[in-house]
Amino acid sequence: MIMNTDSANAIKPPVSAATEQRPEASRGTPVHLAVHHQRGTPRDIRKTGLSPDHWYPVARSEQVVKGKPRGVSFAGQPIVLVRPEQGPVFALENRCAHRQIPLEVGVVRGELLQCAYHGWTYDSTGACVNVPYLDKTKALPKGVRSYPCREAYGLIFVYPGDPAGLNKARFPEIPSHGDAQYKIRYLDRRVGCHYSFMHENLMDMNHQFLHRRLMRAIKARCLDIRSGDTWVEVDYTFSRETGWDPFYETMIGKRQAPTEGRERDLMTIRTEYPYQTLKFWRMGNEHPALDLWNVYIPVDREQRINHTFGLMMLRKPSTPGLIKLMWPVFVWFTNFIFKEDRWAVELEQAAFDAQGADWNNEIAPQILQLRRLLIQQGAPLTTGQAG
Ligand code: FES
Ligand SMILES: [Fe+2]
Repeated sequence: MIMNTDSANAIKPPVSAATEQRPEASRGTPVHLAVHHQRGTPRDIRKTGLSPDHWYPVARSEQVVKGKPRGVSFAGQPIVLVRPEQGPVFALENRCAHRQIPLEVGVVRGELLQCAYHGWTYDSTGACVNVPYLDKTKALPKGVRSYPCREAYGLIFVYPGDPAGLNKARFPEIPSHGDAQYKIRYLDRRVGCHYSFMHENLMDMNHQFLHRRLMRAIKARCLDIRSGDTWVEVDYTFSRETGWDPFYETMIGKRQAPTEGRERDLMTIRTEYPYQTLKFWRMGNEHPALDLWNVYIPVDREQRINHTFGLMMLRKPSTPGLIKLMWPVFVWFTNFIFKEDRWAVELEQAAFDAQGADWNNEIAPQILQLRRLLIQQGAPLTTGQAG
């Protein structure tokens, strides 16, 4: 039996009441689900920016090598990551304070980054510490912004938000990452849609029809929805009325028929702003067979493209070496599912772009709660723009 430790504080609507909720708008009417932000501005979810006041991965550790700066982006803010000769990775604005060319084309010199053009040199705080042709008696020019930066879980995280909020930003915890019983697959993909479509896609297990080729006629049943100020969580179980179970499902153990009470296969999907997790337990197992941790980083200012970073952690079977045999199947399976999801969410973004506003007629109560959360925790789209 799985208990989520913070469920005690959760708002727990009875499942029957929750599933009876319906949006007020009539069929065919655009539903904006506008939520009044604390400043009184109604927001369209697809025009809501991701709050920059959190820690976000912007690259995988292995992509940031010594001596080779790497340019990344958070919601249109260009950032350069530098792994110096000594010491931790640091992150600066990806522009030279002199003539604005990207610092990612610069040269790493020890613990410093030197612009490729006139050689202005910056330290890890963004201060300009040398201009090769400047008279030593003259004051050095102003440098560039630096971002708090941390390396963890095989990822490089930056905090792109208001420096005053840094102490309040909780660094994400991913316990299964350090557990040798799990093998990890990294997700590192650019997807052409607003981050909110990604949250909705994963939390709404009612879209199994999309995956019918692999999942066959599997049905998700929502068991419970819980929420707090900064999170929404939903439990599902699954059934397949007819036919055989595909062999690849046994990667996460054999599907069990549900019994009375809570003894059944259980999937819990949680958006704890801004991160999202999915855990799946086979009936009677204490540890999740599958443990996902995802976050969707807006790339462009309009936030119509996201970079999905994730850790897919698969629990190793007790038979030694079996995970090696299973792994190619797991990779193939997850690629196939992700491809189908990408196809759907990019079509959703295209529909939004054509319509100019969010016309979604959402009916699933967990997704309605999720949308409110993403709007309430979000930021105006202009936040975080360069300059
Ligand atoms: S543009 Fe960078 S030093 Fe001149
Ligand atoms: Fe999906």
